Amino acid sequence: MNSPVWMPYTQMKDAPSPLMVRSAHGAVLELEDGRQLLDCISSWWVTLHGHTQPQIAAAIADQAQRLEQVIAAGFTHQPAEDLARRLRGHLPFVPRLFYSDNGSTAVEVALKMAYQYWRNRGAQGRRRFLSLEGAYHGDTLGAMSLSGRSLFTAPFAELLLPVDWVPFPQTWIGDGEAESREAAALEHLDGLLRRGGEEYAAMIVEPLVQGAAGMRMCRPHFLRQLAGLLRRHGVLLIADEVFTGFGRTGEFFACQKAEIQPDILCLAKGLSGGFLPLAATLCSEEVYQAFCSEDPHHTFYHGHSYTANPLGCAAALASLELLEQQPAPFAALERWHREELGRLADHPQLCRLRVCGTIAALEVKGAEGYLHELGPSLKARFLERGFLLRPLGGVIYLVPPYCLERGQLEAVYRCIAEVVAACSS
Ligand SMILES: Cc1ncc(COP(=O)(O)O)c(C=O)c1O
Repeated sequence: MNSPVWMPYTQMKDAPSPLMVRSAHGAVLELEDGRQLLDCISSWWVTLHGHTQPQIAAAIADQAQRLEQVIAAGFTHQPAEDLARRLRGHLPFVPRLFYSDNGSTAVEVALKMAYQYWRNRGAQGRRRFLSLEGAYHGDTLGAMSLSGRSLFTAPFAELLLPVDWVPFPQTWIGDGEAESREAAALEHLDGLLRRGGEEYAAMIVEPLVQGAAGMRMCRPHFLRQLAGLLRRHGVLLIADEVFTGFGRTGEFFACQKAEIQPDILCLAKGLSGGFLPLAATLCSEEVYQAFCSEDPHHTFYHGHSYTANPLGCAAALASLELLEQQPAPFAALERWHREELGRLADHPQLCRLRVCGTIAALEVKGAEGYLHELGPSLKARFLERGFLLRPLGGVIYLVPPYCLERGQLEAVYRCIAEVVAACSS
């Protein structure tokens, strides 16, 4: 390929040429060659209201003419202050907010915060973390350490932090065995905590939906039990809401739906409505206070050049305003997904149909694993028909922008049913 651009998550040796995108509006991408694609995955799960949403675009343009960037140590600005206060209104149990600029850094900050929290309190022995099997928390070394061991992490195995794993009790529509899977997972966690509770700094979870693992879903009840166990053993809970935040699971935040109150919570992706790289790590007053000290060693020495970028904060405020004004679209999507999945319930090649808010997924029988050859061929066929879907192996999922119309969703599901039938025959 002639392009000097090295694409993410792509084997460049035999990669098809990337599609050149000219513009985008609502849920539709317009390609340079005139074709249109329906973006059914919110461009890696970031676009909330739709592409080039006018109020967000205007807020960025307006902010760019007043203050585009300023060093965040010793300075602040209205958008950063307003955004932190608005988020605190939604998440009062994590009132302190630390800005960064992508999901991986939001998680990296959370890890460092949790680790140093214990050190600052004189508990030096808490060096290990807990995570759920199959998790994905990002690509920086710390975030990768907490992500399930896989093809992605294999080359770096020797560099990763010490982590103990808890099974993820995934469930789907019509599943009758969720409870026994949950009980086994909780028993495993309880065993780890009983044996070495004082060695753990924190446990991290993607609440309700594990995104990159293949949109695997668990029940709120499981998370409540898990949070209770951690609290009993004094281990911090980090909720990674990088993907699940801002209505994705049908509530503003997955933690509200699951009724859990983590000590630390990570946001990115939809935070800016999908316009600009912005992230935030929110923490409880107790965690924050452990860093307020006369001892310079207790300071949180972490920051990024673009910490609290004013354009990103202005975009996030405009996006939040839209969500607060119209929560209906993300509620409607779940109902529509359920109706469409209902029609596919007896499809002979599909199984494990599931939905959580705006997120839906289904699996092609017998096509397990990220590298399953069916994934690329499904993707190519969806593209030919005008749909941007990016199956994870044999898992086909939908994470549409909230502006998607009923008729557009119907068309996607019809396409999925036809393509799966054609691929399997
Ligand atoms: C739950 C979760 N955490 C963290 C990340 C990493 O975010 P980013 O790609 O912005 O670094 C992702 C990305 O998909 C994610 O789904």
